[in-house]
Amino acid sequence: MPVLRVINRDGVEQEVNAPVSGVLMEPLRDMDDGVTAICGGMCSCATCHVYVDEAWQAKLPAPMSDETDMLKDLVSYKPNSRLSCQVQLSAALDGLRVTIAPEE
Ligand code: FES
Repeated sequence: MPVLRVINRDGVEQEVNAPVSGVLMEPLRDMDDGVTAICGGMCSCATCHVYVDEAWQAKLPAPMSDETDMLKDLVSYKPNSRLSCQVQLSAALDGLRVTIAPEE
């Protein structure tokens, strides 16, 4: 089971247990102060926006064009932005560190 390191909007880092399948958004949505993921993972709301720690960016598959299009419309967009509903979980993501982006 991968253990994620998640920094919430207050800057507090916590460890979050994640399943080895599904998408990153799901354990982040289950947190008390996690993402809202309003569209349920349909890549149409961007309320699952996170920043991926630089050390992990290259280890994730590149975003598809629809994800990139959504991200670039956000005021809070950064080069390490991802929609967590588009990131597949796996055992290889043990230790992945992400920061939950501000709400827009
Ligand atoms: S949950 Fe809506 S875009 Fe990710």
